[in-house]
Amino acid sequence: MPVPESEYVSSVWKDGIFKDRVVFVTGGAGTICSAQTRALVRLGANACIIGRNVEKTEAVAKDIATARPGAKVIGIGGCDVRNPQSLTDAADRCANELGGIDFVIAGAAGNFVAPLSGMSPNAFKAVIDIDVLGTFNTVKATIPYLLESAKRNPNPSQDGLTGGRIIYVSATFHYTGMPLQAHVSAAKAAIDSLMASVTLEYGPFGITSNVVAPGAVQGTEGMERLASSKADIEAANAAVPSGRWGVVRDISDATVYLFSDAGSHVNGQVLPVDGGAWRRQGSM
Ligand code: HXC
Repeated sequence: MPVPESEYVSSVWKDGIFKDRVVFVTGGAGTICSAQTRALVRLGANACIIGRNVEKTEAVAKDIATARPGAKVIGIGGCDVRNPQSLTDAADRCANELGGIDFVIAGAAGNFVAPLSGMSPNAFKAVIDIDVLGTFNTVKATIPYLLESAKRNPNPSQDGLTGGRIIYVSATFHYTGMPLQAHVSAAKAAIDSLMASVTLEYGPFGITSNVVAPGAVQGTEGMERLASSKADIEAANAAVPSGRWGVVRDISDATVYLFSDAGSHVNGQVLPVDGGAWRRQGSM
């Protein structure tokens, strides 16, 4: 059964806005990143998704390709973002098979729920390595292609898209700190900071670099672990100023905006997509 379009992309966007664009997505088989990719593909892009699990990554790529007739979506499994060579190989394969890389979503992340007392140095390091080093490796492997894309599509204009865009999928925990998530909070803070440095180094070459920070999103692995009971979910919903948890479409719509021509002058920003929840986080 194809995923209903209303679940992953809003109807406000125009068909074909990402025609001939290629997006490279780490963690692309996960719930949020697959929805982001599906939305971009539905609107004209081709895609390459990267993941550790071979079967899952290939199956999700096949499924995303059904979002638009003629779409090309490659799934590269067996790729760990902690290994720079495996990312360079994946970026080269993506560019060879799809003609370049215009957009990058750095979405690969690790997470488990644990108090500091139950977290070994290696456990903390595992998440820092996946999230921070993995994001650094992703940027390093794809930046040559993003620079080429920015050269091919130089001027922000009303008629054409600019090329060379990066979105980092972060979180909002680190704005206040979060119990049982010390590793993830520290990692996401570092990603926000990495994003700012990339903005300053590569903005002059036409590349934009922004964070999308989801709040609680229904149906994700992370949230199932963090709020597993009905009471947890009701309490979390009540704490969101907008009165509801996010859905994956909230995150894919923010992604479409930032990669579209409408978002071409947004650079170096963190965009929380959480119904305003982080503003209450510290008082929960
Ligand atoms: C304590 C744990 C643990 C747990 C693993 N470890 N799980 N410690 N509590 N629940 C420890 C291990 O004992 C080990 O330490 C160290 O972590 C590394 O474990 P490995 O299994 O060897 O590592 P690896 O195979 O690299 O896996 C890393 C992982 C992985 C992070 C543990 O399982 C993972 O990525 N799982 C979840 C993927 C996921 O949920 N992605 C979505 C992220 S959502 P020792 O000392 O024993 O060697 C997200 C958004 C957050 O990030 C926001 C949500 C709202």
